[in-house]
Amino acid sequence: DKGEHRHFMAKEIHEQPTVIGHTVAAYVDAARQRVVSPAEALDFNSIDRLTLVACGTAYYACHVAKYWFEAIARLPVEIDIASEFRYREPPLSERDAAIFVSQSGETADTLAALRYAAGKVKSVLAVVNVAESSIARAADIVLPIRAGAEIGVASTKAFTCQLVTLATTAILAGRQRGAIDAAEEARLCDLLAEAPRRIAEALTLEDGVAALAQEIARARDVLYLGRGAMYPLALEGALKLKELSYIHAEGYASGEMKHGPIALIDDAVPVVVLAPTDPVFEKTVSNMQEVMARGGKVALITDANGAALAGADAWRVVVLPRIDRFIAPIVYAAPAQLLAYHAALAKGTDVDQPRNLAKSVTVE
Ligand code: F6R
Repeated sequence: DKGEHRHFMAKEIHEQPTVIGHTVAAYVDAARQRVVSPAEALDFNSIDRLTLVACGTAYYACHVAKYWFEAIARLPVEIDIASEFRYREPPLSERDAAIFVSQSGETADTLAALRYAAGKVKSVLAVVNVAESSIARAADIVLPIRAGAEIGVASTKAFTCQLVTLATTAILAGRQRGAIDAAEEARLCDLLAEAPRRIAEALTLEDGVAALAQEIARARDVLYLGRGAMYPLALEGALKLKELSYIHAEGYASGEMKHGPIALIDDAVPVVVLAPTDPVFEKTVSNMQEVMARGGKVALITDANGAALAGADAWRVVVLPRIDRFIAPIVYAAPAQLLAYHAALAKGTDVDQPRNLAKSVTVE
C-alpha cells in the first residue's frame, strides 16, 4: 500500500524518520545513552581487522561505515563488493571479523562471500532487513535493520537504517576497544537519537530539491562529489540517479577531480557537491572552485554555514540543517534520494520498477 504517495519509493523515503527511529530504539538504550546490540557477542578487542562486504547501495553503506569504524573504534577496516571479494581468495584469520550487509538477505554474491568467510574469521555478522533470510541464517550474529518491507527497487530507507545499525556497531567497537569513553558514547548515541528529526527536516526541503531535479533531468551527464564520509554518499547519489532516471552519473572523491574527471567539465555537466561544514569543508570548496573556474555548474548541498561561506558562486544551493558530522551521511542521503526521484519523475521513467533491474539479485 502506497498510502498517500504516488510511488513506493516516495513512501519509503518519507518513512525514514519513523523507521530510523525504530532502528535507533533497537540499538540505543536512550536512558543509559549506551549501545545495546547482539554484536556484543563479538569481542572487538580480539580482532585486528574488520571486513565489510556487500553489493550496490548496501556496499556504499559499508563504505560510510569504514570511516566510522576507523575514527570511532580505531579498527582497521577493509571494504569490498561481494562479487570481487568472493573470487579473490582474501587471506582471513581468527583475528578478523566480517560483516555482510544486505537488505534482502538473498543477494547471491553476498551470500557466497559470507560462506567464503565463515569458519575462517572469528565471527560473521549479517546486517539484514529480512531477518529470516539466507544471509541471516548463515551468520553467527544477526543485526536486523528494522526498516520494514522495502518494495521500491531502488534502496532508500534500507540504506539509512543500514547506516544507523553500522554506526551503533562502530560505537560498540569503540567502547570495547577503549577508543571512546562513556561520555563520547553518550554523545554519539544522542546524535543518533536526533537523526530521525534531522532527516525529517531534510525531507521538508523536497520542493527545492524537486526544482533542482527539473534542471538535472535535462543533463546527459551529472557528477557527484564528496569528501570523507560524504564520498560514499556521492557514489550513492550517482547510483540512485542513473538507476532511476537513466542519466549517466558518476560519483568521485572531491580531491580526485583534478586527477582526471575535471576534463569532463563544461556548462552542460551539473556537479552536485555534498558538503556539510566539517573539517574538510574548505578543501571541498577549493575543488568546487576548480570546477566553476572551468565553467562547471555546481549544485551545492550544504548547511546554512556552508551556504554563507561558499554558496555565492554556486549555480544552485540546497540548505540542510546544521548537524554533527557523525550523522551527516544519514541526513544527506535524503536530498540525494529526492533528487534522483524527482529527476526520474521529470523524465517519466518507472520509478518503482526501473528497466533491467530486480529487487533481489539471486543470480551471480
Ligand atoms: C540500488 C539497490 C541495489 C542493492 C543491491 C544489494 O538502489 O537497491 O544496489 O542495494 O542489489 O541488494 P541487497 O541489499 O538486497 O543485498
